[in-house]
Amino acid sequence: MRIGVFCSGGDAPGMNACLRSVVRSALSAGHEVVGIRRGYQGLLDEDSYVNPDGKPLMTLRSVSGISRYGGTMLHTSRSDEFRTEAGQKKAAAILCKHGIDALIPIGGDGTFRGAVALAQHWDGRIIGCPGTIDNDLIGTDFTIGFATAVQTAVEAVDKLRDTAESHERMFLVEVMGRHSGYIALHTALAAGAEVACIPETQTDVHRILDQLKILKARGKHSIMVIVAEGDEEGGAEKLNQDLCAIGCPFPTRVVILGHLQRGGSPVTGDRILSTRLGDFAVRSILGGRTGAMAGEFRGELLLTPFPETYSAHKAVPPELVALLETMAE
Ligand code: F6P
Repeated sequence: MRIGVFCSGGDAPGMNACLRSVVRSALSAGHEVVGIRRGYQGLLDEDSYVNPDGKPLMTLRSVSGISRYGGTMLHTSRSDEFRTEAGQKKAAAILCKHGIDALIPIGGDGTFRGAVALAQHWDGRIIGCPGTIDNDLIGTDFTIGFATAVQTAVEAVDKLRDTAESHERMFLVEVMGRHSGYIALHTALAAGAEVACIPETQTDVHRILDQLKILKARGKHSIMVIVAEGDEEGGAEKLNQDLCAIGCPFPTRVVILGHLQRGGSPVTGDRILSTRLGDFAVRSILGGRTGAMAGEFRGELLLTPFPETYSAHKAVPPELVALLETMAE
């Protein structure tokens, strides 16, 4: 069997470890792997990985030593052309032309929506791996890259806390998560932040103001507010303006972490998750499965049909929201 693998959408630390796992699992079972560069756009452009010796199929050595690197050796993209039906038909024809029997896309909800669209025009098997820092896919406790993104954000907030304490200031730190508060909530809990503003809970500036006044009266010198970029009240800049306008009791500064959270060497948890899921995706394809995402749910490997992974909002655990409030006392 010839398996195509690619990364699509926003990169996530651990994508390389997942690629390595796909390649080594498939090759050890006697199959071939084509590395498609630049996601769906690369597929349309027939842009595939070529080894330094000019050989087109990926080998055991193509993926040597890559687990420790962030980003993706195959590059990634968001493709407008593939969003069209003409693009999807063209991609299907290219897959047939190159004798590709199965695909393993590594990405987020947009990648899986693309896989569903492609399956309308192509009868090869498709099993996806959840590669996105947002942790917004149903069917897996955590997505590849989430743990590293949180680690990066926590290290940043720890540093900001030093200067916040020295100057007795409040920092509003904006983290990624297009529609999800997972990164913000986990960062806030791990970094001991006082407030998290996330799309899953209502952000009420007057309530936050009351809380800040209480915390100041209790002798707090510094405050960390973690704001998810997807918060319904807007990002950290907007929240800062709103709080200052109603009398925030601390001098404030805003920091937007942005794409910093997408890079860096993946933490152990992401490397292990990536390795398990890449291997599971290959085994699922060889077992005849298709149309699903490989995930890890409560420690068990599990396939979830693509539409289920993105059809509903993945709720953050309410007990973590409550725990953050208790800890902020
Ligand atoms: O989906 C992953 C993500 O990093 C989101 O958290 C963020 O909103 C988005 O990608 C940013 O996308 P881009 O890299 O296109 O700016």
